[in-house]
Amino acid sequence: MSDDVDRPEGPQTVRAASANAPGNGGSALMEVEHLRVLFALKRGIIVDRTIGHVHAVDDVSFTLREGETLGVVGESGCGKTTLIRTLVRLTTPTGGVIRFRGRDITSASRRELEPIRRQMQMVFQDPQASLNPRKRVNQILSTPLRLRGVAKDRTEAETQELLSRVGLQAEHLNRYPHEFSGGQRQRIGIARALAVDPKLILLDEPVSALDVSIQAQVINLLEELQDEFRLSYIFVAHDLSVVRHVSDRIIVMYLGKLMEVSPAGELYDKPIHPYTSALLGAIPIPDPAENRARERPLVTGEPPNPINPPLGCRFHTRCPRATDVCAQVEPQLTEYAGGHLAACHHPQNVTAEEIAAAVRSDSSPISSGTDTPVVLG
Ligand SMILES: Nc1ncnc2c1ncn2[C@@H]1O[C@H](COP(=O)(O)OP(=O)(O)OP(=O)(O)O)[C@@H](O)[C@H]1O
Ligand code: SF4
Ligand SMILES: [Mg+2]
Repeated sequence: MSDDVDRPEGPQTVRAASANAPGNGGSALMEVEHLRVLFALKRGIIVDRTIGHVHAVDDVSFTLREGETLGVVGESGCGKTTLIRTLVRLTTPTGGVIRFRGRDITSASRRELEPIRRQMQMVFQDPQASLNPRKRVNQILSTPLRLRGVAKDRTEAETQELLSRVGLQAEHLNRYPHEFSGGQRQRIGIARALAVDPKLILLDEPVSALDVSIQAQVINLLEELQDEFRLSYIFVAHDLSVVRHVSDRIIVMYLGKLMEVSPAGELYDKPIHPYTSALLGAIPIPDPAENRARERPLVTGEPPNPINPPLGCRFHTRCPRATDVCAQVEPQLTEYAGGHLAACHHPQNVTAEEIAAAVRSDSSPISSGTDTPVVLG
């Protein structure tokens, strides 16, 4: 890997700082302000008419810090993939601002994006589909290496070094993707991302398709690489059990909106948003007796249609704590102690004193109200 001279402090330093003060550790690598992605729904045989929009990402704001791992969780269809595809500009945003290392890239042209895209790489859920089946590993890795400016006579040595860094051997160089196991293929996907010497890797459910034991190996590898190459990660997963150990902070999404943003440990110990509790309740516990005995919060029904999302709090149609205000006023994103944010009128696990000390976050959606949260009796 080439040594980038302007790289800031290492991930260990930032991780320690961000765990204690997640809003303040490290400098901002990526800033996202009021990001919206609406997909037009078309109908018509001769002339396409727009008959509605899918609200895939709807007024989302957050900051990713250098060296940080930000987990993103939520049910299928809540907008996780759309969010990260938009951050690397594979999907065009409808509104809002994306800044990478201080530079506004929201409307950057293809040409302007080229050098920036090299610093942001994606790793996909299905390594089989994301690797070209007609290319040998050798070719898959040498193309991005050359993009990085590695001389032709150095490419083979660098390719071998990359392979060894992700736990594969030199004899794998001449194989095609279908000649590997799922875990090995994901290692190749990671090696391909590393080849351009990125600062940020966006991982879209990188281990969901793998066996549990292989998941742990790939996650360990990602953690080692983060320390070695001073990487930041945005790590998308369906459920909270996967992101628990890798994330410094976690974002919980529901129907395109942020429900909760919290330091990872605190989210598990003290979830403030009822939806987060429901996601935690869905994590299976290995001991069947303990699993049966625990009280799971009730969340009934399917998520509403993202073409016509509910007014007020998007979660109110399924929330066991909902009251009248929830159906009428969108809750602001409120910042509690320790940089823990939640968008809920009736937060859990917080005292009246903690609510009194909390403030409206700058990340609150523009359409949200200013009602202060209240503890339910
Ligand atoms: N290109 C598109 N055109 C229209 N709608 C889209 C498009 N891509 C995604 N959507 C819709 O946007 C919403 C968010 O989709 P997205 O793939 O981001 O969800 P997700 O959280 O990644 O789900 P999963 O966990 O299943 O991967 C869904 O309702 C989806 O149907
Ligand atoms: S705002 Fe109301 S409906 Fe939404 S999560 Fe909180 S209590 Fe439930
Ligand atoms: Mg997805």
